[in-house]
Amino acid sequence: MKNSPPQEIGIGLIGLGTVGGGVAQLIKEEAARYERSTGKRLAIRRVLVRDAAKAKASGLVAADIVTADPDAFFATPGVDVVIEVAGGIKPTGDLVRRALNDGKPVITANKSLLATHGPELFALARAKGVHISFEASCGGGIPCILALTLGLQANNISGLYGILNGTTNYILSQMANAGQSYAEALKGAQALGFAEADPTMDVSGEDAKQKLCILASLAFGARIAPDKVPCEGIERLEKVDFNYGAEMGYAIKLLATAERWPGHQWVCVQVRPCFVRKSALIAQVQGGFNALSVIGHATGHTMYYGAGAGSLPTASAVVSDLLSTVSGVAGTAFANLRFAPDLNEEAPVVNTADTESPFYLRLKANDRPGVIAQVTRILGEHGVSISGVLQHTVAKGEAHVPLVITTHQVRQGTLEKAVAEIEKLEAIAEKPVILRIVELPA
Ligand code: NDP
Ligand code: HSE
Repeated sequence: MKNSPPQEIGIGLIGLGTVGGGVAQLIKEEAARYERSTGKRLAIRRVLVRDAAKAKASGLVAADIVTADPDAFFATPGVDVVIEVAGGIKPTGDLVRRALNDGKPVITANKSLLATHGPELFALARAKGVHISFEASCGGGIPCILALTLGLQANNISGLYGILNGTTNYILSQMANAGQSYAEALKGAQALGFAEADPTMDVSGEDAKQKLCILASLAFGARIAPDKVPCEGIERLEKVDFNYGAEMGYAIKLLATAERWPGHQWVCVQVRPCFVRKSALIAQVQGGFNALSVIGHATGHTMYYGAGAGSLPTASAVVSDLLSTVSGVAGTAFANLRFAPDLNEEAPVVNTADTESPFYLRLKANDRPGVIAQVTRILGEHGVSISGVLQHTVAKGEAHVPLVITTHQVRQGTLEKAVAEIEKLEAIAEKPVILRIVELPA
């Protein structure tokens, strides 16, 4: 007896850029394996883009399935699942709502949309009896959402420490190790397809912040809104910070951190460039790679590492969500586990001013007698205890020299108050750079 052909799963794909192109490539090249593992055949039925001519010319999918008309896209028969890899909030949010309202599960890589409209979209999906899968929204190819929602569910999680943006990690690595300037390194990250359409999202820390909100919401079973998260990017770092860091045994990483306040439900979330010891595992994460350290009460420290951006790594996460959707695993997890942000209250967020840490402080100061004394006097008056001072000579003719001070553990708000006073000194040029010093496992 002849076997009947496998059931086809029709896919509607919104976006055919870096990630969408990777999705189309994987579905084409791995078709036989996916059919063997799910027993179903995947077929991209329609692709929605803005510039149809460009997508048709790409050769990534058959030209006759490409459209720039959302109505034509949604009218396509036989679409069982919608993949959104277009990015942005408008009009993409409306496209996602339309898919959910049509009763289609949605797979998305769009952290901007989820961080800002996640609870509403999750609730809509639930009301329509479908699900949203979003592994690609955080950590590119690293299955960190799977780890947090399923693999670590036995744990009470106390902290997340992540390098969650490939572009900035690439820039920091190139500045530290290849002597590139900030501008050269950013161009490199764009050429590699890591950067957002607007790279300000990356370098300002916004992208990492959106991912942190998604991950921390899952880890702590509470909503965390991006506007509650203090965020600082890498734009103000200079070569001198890398040099002084190296001299003291530190690397600079843009860390997205979410820590549960000991003994409370309160969480402290922030994104900022930090010094981490060169011996720490997270300091080894170079280039476009990402890593997420998770501290669980039973596991202790676990760390998830891999390509955090780029076409195929991100497509891996999208297509894995697709396969989990086809097998029913994704829908069951979404319907039955209580981790999704629409089911949880907003987390009480601790003011970062009240948290404590050691810090690195870099000032640009006039090279003349008494300046260090003025600065250390102000720190002393605020009760900030200094652990080290470094000042190297600079080329003749330079009006200012970098003055580097490291502190013992101090309340962040107290240090910021002292720095605000220091900033007003006539001998100090520019706003000082403050980096948190974070101790993470080796
Ligand atoms: P690209 O800019 O490379 O591609 C975007 C695609 O979406 C293009 O085909 C574009 O069409 C299409 N598109 C954009 N807006 C619309 C719209 N309103 N309607 C229809 N089509 C639209 O982006 P990426 O592939 O890099 O990123 C896509 C998503 O994946 C974003 O949410 C991003 O944050 C996320 N992501 C990206 C990663 C990466 O490494 N690049 C990693 C992880 C997540 P056209 O070309 O015609 O304008
Ligand atoms: N622009 C993002 C990054 C893409 O650089 O990490 C991955 O989300």
